[in-house]
Amino acid sequence: MTCRLHARLLLVLLCLICGSEQTCPPMCLCVSDTVSCSSSGLGRLPRTLPTFSATLDLSYNHLSWLGPGIFNKMPVLENLKLSHNQLRSLGHGVFLNASGLRLLDLSSNKLQVVEQHYFKGLWRLEELLLFNNRITQVEAGTLVGLSSLKKAYFSLNQITQFPFFSIQDHSHPFLTMLDLSSNRMSRLPWEDVKALPGLVQRGLYLHNNSLICDCSMYSMFWHWSLRGYNALKEFAYDHTCIISGDPRSSIRFLQQNRFFLNCTVEKAVSRPVTVFLSSVLVSVGDEVRLDCQTPLRSTELSFTWLSPRKGRITQTSTNDTLISLSANGTLEIQAAKVNDSGVYVCTALDVKQSLNATREVNVTVLLPAVEPFNTGYTTLLGCLVSFIAVLMYLFLTPCHCRCCKQPKPPIIPAVTYDTSALTSILPPYTRNQHKIQTNRHVAFMEPAISEEEADQIPES
Ligand SMILES: *[C@@H]1O[C@H](CO)[C@@H](O)[C@H](O)[C@H]1NC(C)=O
Ligand SMILES: *[C@@H]1O[C@H](CO)[C@@H](O)[C@H](O)[C@H]1NC(C)=O
Ligand SMILES: *[C@@H]1O[C@H](CO)[C@@H](O)[C@H](O)[C@H]1NC(C)=O
Ligand SMILES: *[C@@H]1O[C@H](CO)[C@@H](O)[C@H](O)[C@H]1NC(C)=O
Ligand SMILES: *[C@@H]1O[C@H](CO)[C@@H](O)[C@H](O)[C@H]1NC(C)=O
Ligand SMILES: *[C@@H]1O[C@H](CO)[C@@H](O)[C@H](O)[C@H]1NC(C)=O
Ligand SMILES: *[C@@H]1O[C@H](CO)[C@@H](O)[C@H](O)[C@H]1NC(C)=O
Ligand SMILES: *[C@@H]1O[C@H](CO)[C@@H](O)[C@H](O)[C@H]1NC(C)=O
Repeated sequence: MTCRLHARLLLVLLCLICGSEQTCPPMCLCVSDTVSCSSSGLGRLPRTLPTFSATLDLSYNHLSWLGPGIFNKMPVLENLKLSHNQLRSLGHGVFLNASGLRLLDLSSNKLQVVEQHYFKGLWRLEELLLFNNRITQVEAGTLVGLSSLKKAYFSLNQITQFPFFSIQDHSHPFLTMLDLSSNRMSRLPWEDVKALPGLVQRGLYLHNNSLICDCSMYSMFWHWSLRGYNALKEFAYDHTCIISGDPRSSIRFLQQNRFFLNCTVEKAVSRPVTVFLSSVLVSVGDEVRLDCQTPLRSTELSFTWLSPRKGRITQTSTNDTLISLSANGTLEIQAAKVNDSGVYVCTALDVKQSLNATREVNVTVLLPAVEPFNTGYTTLLGCLVSFIAVLMYLFLTPCHCRCCKQPKPPIIPAVTYDTSALTSILPPYTRNQHKIQTNRHVAFMEPAISEEEADQIPES
């Protein structure tokens, strides 16, 4: 068996050597998995680009058009930088088969309308940079399907309307930054803004627009400032609104609130929808327990889980021995299967106070045998290291082929789990608030908004 392993390693090595005839375009710099063609005077994309690059920098060129599928020969592309070009629009299918993109920088171009087909299929996209364009319109479906989105920057454009309604808890669970500052919005659909997930409201930047002063606007900002959101703290001076539509009568409404004395500030703008994200890594067949701890302290909570495979799970709906929900909100999966992987969302509901809070857990179920080699090893360094490793292996260790024992099972990443999510393994005293906070992966935007702090903010 070990011999077969050697053979396979050599084969892999050979394949890498043959396959790595990647041509670096003359005007670009190619280092390991990064290709930089920045400031190269490009008017068009180079004909061939190294296939296994994760980062492609095309910024500061003269690109004015991108054709369909031009990045489809780059299966591992994650970061695409196209800032400071002359792009006016994007054709259909530009990002066809580039669904690995995590960062897309289209800032400082000349885009005018963000059409809804632009980012289709980019479900892994985490950061979208569109600031400093000439965008007047963002079409309603633009953000649909961008379920991994964390930060979106639309600042310094001419946007008058934005499809706030398309952003919801479950469509964009990780969005913590939506920058719409320095645009031309005068009236916002405040009902839609109020309905935005709590994390999005916390990271919503709206300063330096041409907002019209009115009570519904004021009450929204009043609540945000009560909660100490960063956008309001950092840009207090840039939050202006204009009185009765006259651009000359602009006031800094966070500082001068005389005008709003007659406004009755509405109660409870939004419920504290708190999203915690944690991840759990288990092997096929393991028992998985996910708890639903939220800031809600009532003893009479009802719980609902949304699972990727079984949909809604409530205590009464489960007639399933494989997956069960106990009264304290803990979801138990008897024997995990690969297709149980995905994001599980629990909603805890306090009926009396009509408060609810959600909690998310990203469950990944691994097959026992993982073949962890993929496309990464394109660098010369990678090749050399593997080659030396193979040589060392061949020369230093005798090949015991006759006495081939059953090979050890391949290394599975040790079953790691989020202590705050998996209650079954740790004794209760090891699970404390601090653990939960350090395991929060979202809301990294704002430095440490502690739960206590969030709790203190009055809801009225
Ligand atoms: C895109 O991917 C699909 C499925 O992965 C494949 O069938 C198709 O040929 C690819 N398209 C291009 C243009 O490479
Ligand atoms: C406000 O927005 C305008 C364009 O709308 C921009 O030119 C200006 O620099 C912005 N000011 C600030 C302080 O961001
Ligand atoms: C507030 O209401 C009072 C009386 O109801 C009125 O005289 C005053 O002009 C109002 N102020 C503003 C800023 O609308
Ligand atoms: C939780 O609260 C939000 C915001 O108030 C509301 O839209 C949603 O329907 C509530 N969820 C449940 C399950 O009650
Ligand atoms: C649960 O399943 C059993 C048989 O497996 C069936 O008799 C029963 O009616 C089911 N209950 C519900 C609530 O679906
Ligand atoms: C919830 O109840 C289950 C059994 O019904 C138990 O195993 C689990 O530890 C409990 N979880 C919490 C957070 O108390
Ligand atoms: C999930 O996988 C199991 C076997 O591993 C299979 O029986 C089941 O049909 C699969 N379910 C879905 C929805 O694919
Ligand atoms: C869930 O975890 C897996 C593996 O760690 C990761 O690839 C995936 O992107 C995660 N999903 C989300 C929505 O974070």
